[in-house]
Amino acid sequence: MRYILNDQSLVLGVCYYPEHWPRSAWAGDLRRMTEAGIRVIRIAEFAWNKFEPEEGRYIFAFFDDFLEEVEKTPIKVIFCTPTATPPAWLTHKYPEVLNARMDGVLYRHGSRRHYNYNSPVYQEFSRKIVEQFGAHYAAHPSIIGWQIDNELNCETSDFYSESDSAAFRRFLEEKYGSLEALNEAWGTVFWNQTYTAWEEIFVPQTTVSNSTNPHRVLDYYRFVSASARRFCKMQADILRKYIKEGDFITTNGLFGNLDNHAMTAESLDFITYDSYPNFAYCLDDYRAEDLLKDRKWSRNLSESRSVSPVFGIMEQQSGANGWNTRMEAPTPRPGQLTLWTMQSIAHGADFVSYFRWRTCTVGTEIYWHGILDYSGRENRRLREVRAVAEKLSHMQELAGSRYVAKVGILKDYDNIWDAQTDKWHERVDRESQKNLFAAAQLTHTPVDFVYLTDTTTAEELARYELLFYPHASILTKERVALLEEYVSAGGQLVMGCRTGYKDPNGKCVTDCLPGLACRLTGTDIPEYTFVAPDLQKVYAEWDGERIEAAVFNDILAPAGEQAEAVASYLPAEDGQAALGAAVSPDYAGQPALIRNRFGEGTAWYFGGAFALDTALAFLRKLGAAQPFSALVSAPSTCEIAVRKKGDAQYLFVLNYDKAPASITLKTEMTDLWAQRPVSGPVKLDGYGAGVYRI
Ligand code: GAL
Repeated sequence: MRYILNDQSLVLGVCYYPEHWPRSAWAGDLRRMTEAGIRVIRIAEFAWNKFEPEEGRYIFAFFDDFLEEVEKTPIKVIFCTPTATPPAWLTHKYPEVLNARMDGVLYRHGSRRHYNYNSPVYQEFSRKIVEQFGAHYAAHPSIIGWQIDNELNCETSDFYSESDSAAFRRFLEEKYGSLEALNEAWGTVFWNQTYTAWEEIFVPQTTVSNSTNPHRVLDYYRFVSASARRFCKMQADILRKYIKEGDFITTNGLFGNLDNHAMTAESLDFITYDSYPNFAYCLDDYRAEDLLKDRKWSRNLSESRSVSPVFGIMEQQSGANGWNTRMEAPTPRPGQLTLWTMQSIAHGADFVSYFRWRTCTVGTEIYWHGILDYSGRENRRLREVRAVAEKLSHMQELAGSRYVAKVGILKDYDNIWDAQTDKWHERVDRESQKNLFAAAQLTHTPVDFVYLTDTTTAEELARYELLFYPHASILTKERVALLEEYVSAGGQLVMGCRTGYKDPNGKCVTDCLPGLACRLTGTDIPEYTFVAPDLQKVYAEWDGERIEAAVFNDILAPAGEQAEAVASYLPAEDGQAALGAAVSPDYAGQPALIRNRFGEGTAWYFGGAFALDTALAFLRKLGAAQPFSALVSAPSTCEIAVRKKGDAQYLFVLNYDKAPASITLKTEMTDLWAQRPVSGPVKLDGYGAGVYRI
């Protein structure tokens, strides 16, 4: 990764909107940011009209003047391309640039991200403005990097304009070459969907019962991803011609229907993420029983790390959330702003930029608070930012270090997108993804998300002692060969129900199940079923322990000499059955978990989705839980993370609870904030954190 300030340092930033404030406010704002320890601002992502107030008339004075003010300070700038919000003059004159709903109604001016990637007119306007930006601003000494657009595929990741249908046809022609091949791949023989001319094909449209050919939808998601990537690359290629050596190009956020990994590899220097843990406290969907709450954002941060091992946070929560039309979430409590900043850094962020400096007084986001309220007067949150900057000044040595995880959860875009088209698969996958991550958090077991691509190697996988590939419906020969190599070299792999029953088009295979994974897992699946509602919950017994096989049950049989059934489905408990509360599964007594020795390693096939207790049991029984227990003990309300650089290791303990937490440091370490040695019992404040050099 290139570093934000061209050296290895942890840097604080803030999002700023010079166009929202009188010019007379600029100098004072920049002075106060500097004084608070902020060193980078992000600007201009929604300001197209300030540069091109009418078609083809470019003016640069407004941001030139602002940059002149910035140059007088130590602050550096991330400049953005403004393509997330096309001007009214543009969409009015060229409505074909607009995105549409599935029923064809256009999204009109007044919000944001209402354009489509495939309109040749929009591509041309975007190309021109990015070219103008590059030529005019890229050499400016205050600029250190660029953000492309803003949150590609945010607000909506579906595109249904006429340009999209035209581009979808080209995408398919290139992929399949002939209609015959396309008809075969999409199984159009079903319900008489056979296409006889390319013009008959559209992006998904409104249909009876909303049922659209799933193989077509899977290709549509691939198409949307390719469209967004192409749009991003078009901008990146232009900017690369102009940017100064050492300056970087990024974009912010991780959104749906977009292969963020491929986009970053082909166009960006690293990804940045927008982290709003306070969504967990939104009144609209607050759930008291949700175990992780704001800690759930660690999952998104782990996703960011899977794209760029060291990444940035372009927008970090600093105030209450809300639009005038949706979401109501409270102000971060004292300590939470620091906690969430440290959460980002613990997971691998070396740059954290708060959203935003001062809360906007106009528009949809008047309740989306920044560090300061409308008046800009000194407040508690600004004092907390200052204290964060002070803490960071003692943590600089850990910049560039890498998060340490020995457990990985494998993912791939085909299966992510297929789950979106498939209610059965989605239900199974959602349950396991949620619980595997929660179980890892609660047992202080750091996990990485590992995305399988065509270039993933067995050496990369060998970094992990244990991999889960929970429910990969779609498997390919290449992926399975890779997994076989990993396991035979000594790895442990756990697969869950519904593995291997689809091909890359999302069509079901006619082989024995779990399809291509039969050999690796030593498993055959003679029968399968959803957990019927009258069964309530289905359990299996594994070495005397009861584990739930949630949502769906593959009824298993060992296949091959090395395969052994190690857990079987249980009948409903007597008491329960007698009360009529639950009936026993008719497959009670049959295998629910197969262990297969494969070369030096072991593959496990589990017949259900992973409930929380089940995920906890796997982590414990397979020896992966609590890898840092020799260093620290902490209550489960705390998250533990370690970053490593060379021989140096840094321990983060994050207390998400309102109550103080008692932790024990089991060896002598250096408390980086206090700059002194520490060991034994330590008390962390409610919402407190500690960062230690081990
Ligand atoms: C982000 C976006 C910002 C701001 C913020 C609050 O998704 O990038 O521009 O809108 O959310 O809604």
